[in-house]
Amino acid sequence: MRPLPGTIICTWAELQVTGTVLYRQDGFEGFVILDDYVPRGYVDACPHNGMPLGGDQEESDYQTREQDVILCRWHGASFLKDSGLCIGGPCAGEHLASWPVERRGDEVVTV
Ligand code: FES
Repeated sequence: MRPLPGTIICTWAELQVTGTVLYRQDGFEGFVILDDYVPRGYVDACPHNGMPLGGDQEESDYQTREQDVILCRWHGASFLKDSGLCIGGPCAGEHLASWPVERRGDEVVTV
């Protein structure tokens, strides 16, 4: 079940340091990724086969080294940060499911 609106996911400072924060609670799996200065949230399920994108669940595995696109570690699908559109790989043209989040002061919360 998705967390209720207003649920605190992480601090703004944490997201700035790591670039990606995973959220696992009550069967819901999502992640928040920093897109320049905007937090973007997505359900952590690749459109290709529903697997969590990070493979071994390390935050550092959710983006390319350049941090320009979201990357699925299973079969290499790549996604735009701002829309979740898959721009390469086996699910090209599909989207990650959006999980709206926003910055509120020093925290990142669900909308
Ligand atoms: S599970 Fe993501 S590309 Fe195959």
